[in-house]
Formats: sequence, structure tokens, C-alpha cells
Amino acid sequence: MSKLWGGRFEGRTDDLVERLGESVSFDARLAPWDLRGSIAHARMLGQQHIIPARDARAIIRGLQAIAKEISAGRFTWDVALEDVHTNIEAALVRKIGDSGKRLHTARSRNDQVATAVRLWTRDQIDQIADLLRALQAALIAFAEAHLGVIVPGFTHLQHAQPVLLAHHMLAYVEMFQRDAERFAQLRSRVNVLPLGSAALAGTPYPIDREQVALELGFEAVSANSMDAVADRDYLIEFCANAALAMMHLSRFSEELILWSSPEFAFIEIGDAFTTGSSIMPQKKNPDVAELVRGKTGRVYGDLMALLTLLKGLPLTYNRDLQEDKERVFDAADTLQLCLEVFTRMIPALSVNTDAVKRALRQGFMEATDLADYLVTKGMPFRAAHEVIGKIVLYCARNGKALPDLSLEEFRGFSTLFDDRVFSVLSAEAIVRRRDHPGATAPARVRDALRAAKRRLRTR
Ligand code: ARG
Repeated sequence: MSKLWGGRFEGRTDDLVERLGESVSFDARLAPWDLRGSIAHARMLGQQHIIPARDARAIIRGLQAIAKEISAGRFTWDVALEDVHTNIEAALVRKIGDSGKRLHTARSRNDQVATAVRLWTRDQIDQIADLLRALQAALIAFAEAHLGVIVPGFTHLQHAQPVLLAHHMLAYVEMFQRDAERFAQLRSRVNVLPLGSAALAGTPYPIDREQVALELGFEAVSANSMDAVADRDYLIEFCANAALAMMHLSRFSEELILWSSPEFAFIEIGDAFTTGSSIMPQKKNPDVAELVRGKTGRVYGDLMALLTLLKGLPLTYNRDLQEDKERVFDAADTLQLCLEVFTRMIPALSVNTDAVKRALRQGFMEATDLADYLVTKGMPFRAAHEVIGKIVLYCARNGKALPDLSLEEFRGFSTLFDDRVFSVLSAEAIVRRRDHPGATAPARVRDALRAAKRRLRTR
């Protein structure tokens, strides 16, 4: 195979080296961002009289024409030209002739690729922000539509205390809020222009980096040219943020899988988001939730791959860095697909209120409130805990639920019980009493819903 930039060589490149080194098969998707970076660079070169103004104009027109060809699918990518950057530069020279050979003045592929990937990452962050918002909106709508529903709340996957289903859903709204905040904070660290760093040391040409930053919407120019071409922290952060968001989706998936099993039967997932079995005609499987849970592992893998890729690299650019792309593309694609499918699945969940009510009667979830009741009668909490524990044991042995007991049975354990004990024994009363900011009382959950909606509007 003949060489790119072959002046210095006499021999050809081994064919296997081409296969190993080409990245255009996966980095061609960076073309729109690479082109934007090149157009801004060419305009600056012209304005600064680093290249003749008419060459700059020809380059910009040529790059715009190439952008159209690429988006129309009329561009042929050539693996022999290695990557997206060289393919576009070669096409430019084919198209406009020698003027095109001036584009690469005062830059290197090192600052060029860093610029394209930062622009790409910034757009991914903006899309993810929209998708997280849409998911939060779907969860809020679902919570509002089920404000009357009380479900068992779990610790250790054991019935713990009753909560509003809306409260449970709003827990996820908070998780996705933090995910959105993490991406928003990352955005400003990503939004720094590396172009002008050239290979590693900067360039002797009188470039205007501020002008390029302005055209490309960067908030700042990089402060150190060596850092700018070697840094991939922001991609690691991107994958870490994606991994956290996937982890939240995965926990949610796990609950949907449990809740739609016949053992819980709290919810049914709509036909559009479940699949059948090739052998068992009765099956309705929660594949979407399972796949999201499974894909969480692959995004963790993307993060670990990038951390490992960077850990031994001396400054500045090393070709290893080309390996960053497939991992970060995969993390971005996976997270976005999972967010989208989840958002669509939420309205397709229906709640089986009978099964939920039946479940509320199991697990002695009134026990904490019964202990609190004895506390209001003057008993120290630890002593009350002991008494109620004995009552629960009595119920378990006799196949009874706490609300089934008579006053005489209660008084057999403590004479502090009177007939007001029955007022603490409904799920509604238990939920209503948790009446402070952040708790599950219906009034507080309605406040939380309002606050969550307000926050979504202002983000
Ligand atoms: N395809 C390369 C990458 O993604 C572009 C930068 C090449 N730079 C170099 N010095 N070989 O890393």
C-alpha cells in the first residue's frame, strides 16, 4: 500500500498496518464536526492573512460542498486514507486543487481531532439533556396519574413501610436530575477550544484562537497546548456520567422486572415493550428492561476501557488515543437509545391496584407506626420496638395481619393500648403521617411534583 505523507519514506506500508490503523470505518461519523472545525480554521487563516483570502474562500466553499455530499450519502470513504480528517482533506484537494493544500497550515491532526471530538461531545451532552428531561416529564406524568396509589416500600427487598407510588417514581426523577446536572457541569469543561495547539507546542503563525472559539461556540481557549492535545479526561467523565445514568436506568429496570413478575404483579408492561417466548405460549417477557439492565454493563466497560487507555500514556498525543472513539460512541449511543425507549415505556405501564392492595396487607408494615403509637403513650422507643416485635411474632404464628387483632389481643402485650390504636393501622394513615419536606404524605408529594415540574421548566 502506498503511503500518506510519503516524502520521508522509501518503502510501502504493510497491508495489515492499514487494517490496524484505519479509523475511518468508525470515525466517519465525526465528519460534520470536523468540517465545522475546518471551516472556522480556514476563515481565520484568511482573516489573519496566513493564507490568501481567495484560497480561504475556495476552501470554505469546497468544505461546504463536501458536507452536502456526505449528508446525502454521496461521499466515498477510503480506508487507505486512514481517518475522517485525511479523507476530507484529500477530497478537498481533489475538488478545488492546490488551494486545498493550504487548509492544514498552522494545525495538526492532533488539535484537529481534539476539536472535532469536543464539538461532537458537546452536541451529545445537549441531546442527553433533552432526553433526560423527557424521561423526567414522563415519570412526573405517571406519578400524577397515580397519586392515589399506595405501594409497599421495600428495604432488603422486604416489605418495610407503605409509600405513595408517586413518591417512589419521584425518587427516580431526583436521580435523573443529578445525572442532568453532571452532564451540564461537564459541558463547560468540554466547551474549550484545543485548536491552535497544533501538534503539541503551538504554532509560529499569527493565529487568532479567540475568533475560532467564537465561531465554534467555545467558551474558552485551552490554556496549555500540550494538555489540549493529550487530554481525554472529558471523555472519561462523559462515560462516567453515562455509566451513572445507566446504573439508574438499570435499578429502575430491575424493579420493573420484579414488579411485573407474577410474584409481585404490581404492574403490567404494555405489549409494545414486551416479547413472547419461542416455546412457552403464555410468556410475556420484560425484555426492554432486561436489555437496558444488560447494556449498563457495556457502558461500564466503555468507562473502564478509557481509564485503562489513558493511564500509561506519556505526554502528549499517542496513537493509542484513536481507541477512545468507539468506546465513547458506544456509551453515547447506548445511553441515548435506552433513555428514549424508557421514556416511551413509562406511559405503557399499568398498575394492578388489586395486587398492590393485597401486598399492602402482607409484611406487617404497620409495625413502626404501632411502636410510635406506644411512644406517644410514654413508652421509650426501644421498649416499644420490643413489644411490637412480640406482637408481630404472635401474628406470624397465628396467620394474622396486625389490623386483624382485637383490642384485647393488643392489651395482652401492653395496657397502654386503647381503641385509638386502630386509627394508626391503615396504609393511608401511615402515609399521611409522614408529613414533612421530602416525605411521602400526599400533600408533600403534591408539593414535590409541583417543584419537580417547575425545575424542569427552568432547566
Ligand atoms: N485518527 C487519529 C485519532 O483519532 C487522528 C489523529 C492522528 N494524529 C497523529 N499524530 N497520528 O487519534
